[in-house]
Amino acid sequence: MGNTAAMKPTRLLILAGGRSDEHEISIISARSVLEAATTVPNLDATGLVVTREGRWLSPQESQKALAEGSARHGGEPALHSAHVVTEYDVVFPLMHGPFGEDGTVQGMLELAGVPYVGCGVLASALCMDKTMTKEVLRANNIPQVRHFAFTRQAYANDPAHIINEAKRLRAPWFVKPANLGSSVGVSRATDDVQLKVAIEEALRYDRRALVEEEVLDVRELEVAILGNDAPKVSPVGEITHNGDFYDYPTKYTDGRSQRHIPTDAPHAVCEKIQELALRAYQILDCAGFARVDFFYAAETGQIFLNELNTIPGFTPFSMYPKLWESGGISYGELIQQLIDLALERHQSRR
Ligand SMILES: Nc1ncnc2c1ncn2[C@@H]1O[C@H](COP(=O)(O)OP(=O)(O)O)[C@@H](O)[C@H]1O
Ligand SMILES: [Mg+2]
Repeated sequence: MGNTAAMKPTRLLILAGGRSDEHEISIISARSVLEAATTVPNLDATGLVVTREGRWLSPQESQKALAEGSARHGGEPALHSAHVVTEYDVVFPLMHGPFGEDGTVQGMLELAGVPYVGCGVLASALCMDKTMTKEVLRANNIPQVRHFAFTRQAYANDPAHIINEAKRLRAPWFVKPANLGSSVGVSRATDDVQLKVAIEEALRYDRRALVEEEVLDVRELEVAILGNDAPKVSPVGEITHNGDFYDYPTKYTDGRSQRHIPTDAPHAVCEKIQELALRAYQILDCAGFARVDFFYAAETGQIFLNELNTIPGFTPFSMYPKLWESGGISYGELIQQLIDLALERHQSRR
């Protein structure tokens, strides 16, 4: 696919920012894609910034926001401005979390009939929701951490019951909102008091939450997938950090976490992870790309799939592009392949 030199350039619209706590990360990613796009033949890329309130700036106003690194005010309600997407050949929704990664923007792009990079509505929504991801993966025997999920309503009705159910899992625990990301609302608990606090914290962010058993002596391994019906898998990378866990400040403060690409985890573990990641990607009907994150318990040798990120961080220093660089695909080439995959998927569904 892709245009030849004689043809009109492909017009790419990158959607950046948005309502999530990863607003700024998204803008940094978008800036790097815009810069790299200038090296991709026949590609004409434009950035559009969505403010923290979810309002859409015009492409002109977005230039300032892109330069400043964030946008809080201004813009129009999304549904007033969204028709702008029809002026482009392909859209890259490079926004993380709810209203970016969860199928909502993808649904709007479906309605508009515009090809877009990455997963469709179903896979986006499923992968954003930690409990639903687990349900589908469990039905397909993909190994994952033991967990217990519940609603805010169920907790309000009978908190002691929810806490007792959660305590059937071995301590320490991780408590998380079902739909978020970037570790917001995630906490670790070692006793009843902390468990209660952690549950109430998670339920502030979502109507549903889950408690998981902590993986002891955990190593965090991640792998990148690229493709539609015949996806490819990258080498396996590892994140190490000096925080209590890989929480929000640890993720986004320079020097607090390190990437190791490839990891020095045993070869057999990496092969297993690559196989599980590809299976999960296909089971969840992912398309375009995703980063699949695993927990590896070095002591016992157990591997657990933790989550699929359908809009992974995309700065040149982010894990996803770095994994592909080590797999032999440059940042510019990756952008070209994502666009080709978006066009291919759009064609195949017509
Ligand atoms: N069951 C677990 N065992 C050990 N560490 C965990 C567990 N669940 C989460 N963590 C730690 O918390 C971090 C954030 O959890 P994660 O499920 O990845 O949420 P998010 O979607 O916000 O990234 C992980 O990267 C890891 O450091
Ligand atoms: Mg995570």
